[in-house]
Amino acid sequence: MKKFFSVEDVIDVHDLIKDALLLKQNPYDFHYLGKNKTIGLVFFNPSLRTRISCQKAAFNLGCNTWVLDVHRDSWTIEMNDGSVMNLTTQEHLKEAISVMSMYCDILAVRTFPNLSDRDYDDREIIFNKILNYSRVPVVNMESATLHPLQSLADVMTIAEFTSFFRKRCKVVLSWAPHVKSLPHSVANSFSQWVSKIKQIDFTITCPERYNLHKKFSNGAYTTHNQNKAFINADFIYAKNWSSYLDYGKILCKNSDWMITENKMKLTNQAKFMHCLPVRRNVVVEDAVLDSSKYSIVLQQAKNRIYASQIIFLRMLQSLS
Ligand code: CP
Repeated sequence: MKKFFSVEDVIDVHDLIKDALLLKQNPYDFHYLGKNKTIGLVFFNPSLRTRISCQKAAFNLGCNTWVLDVHRDSWTIEMNDGSVMNLTTQEHLKEAISVMSMYCDILAVRTFPNLSDRDYDDREIIFNKILNYSRVPVVNMESATLHPLQSLADVMTIAEFTSFFRKRCKVVLSWAPHVKSLPHSVANSFSQWVSKIKQIDFTITCPERYNLHKKFSNGAYTTHNQNKAFINADFIYAKNWSSYLDYGKILCKNSDWMITENKMKLTNQAKFMHCLPVRRNVVVEDAVLDSSKYSIVLQQAKNRIYASQIIFLRMLQSLS
């Protein structure tokens, strides 16, 4: 594997999930592969889970890591080509990525959307530059439109709760309220990954004018009636995203969209999923998040380790 930008870089999603779950059983089986190998983790935006789970995954493979929080630890980076850099930016992305990629064998990068210029975000301008400037394989730790490591952990978690998709299940991605304008990446990516699994019936529910770009929702049934969507659901995946049509805008603040215990009662004893971090009693009420009957968010978070580890493993195997 030479790059991991999206699910399209995966030849067989079922195989990847199976191998990731095997790694979870025997996390140190490939510890020898990382000898004298370094993984660089570059964050243009904050992180808790991605940052630490990637370090743990690298450790399990015997790799060294370095981590750079660009805005805190580094020079101010110029993203635009052809700029006259006589204002506040001090180093161009071109040199920064080229240099960092010489200090590691795999480069993993997080860079969020600007949520103001839809075309710029949709075209993944920054991530494509990073792919272009890097001399080593690149992993997407969340880009303008996608968060594939999260989605891999999510589908692994669904696999664990369905005895590896033994029977069909209904998965609902539900928009939920939030106070800030958030990216579409988790929702887009989740939609892409579940659409690769034929045993999943997938429904998206969101307020009007919050439909995801059809490039990602990929024909998934979308309804603005949340209660109707929840009926017979086996998994409720809650996530906020800003409007795509009115790009980056918050059009709905209606707390009726919050995931409550009463809504979970409409489902087929569904499990509650969220990528975290989550705002309690805004996105989901405590009674759901704190309930071992409903909530599997910690299992998802734990699977972030093995999702990263299988991707790093496949990259290391392609290096040697
Ligand atoms: N879910 C997720 O990516 O968490 P962090 O933003 O904390 O890495």
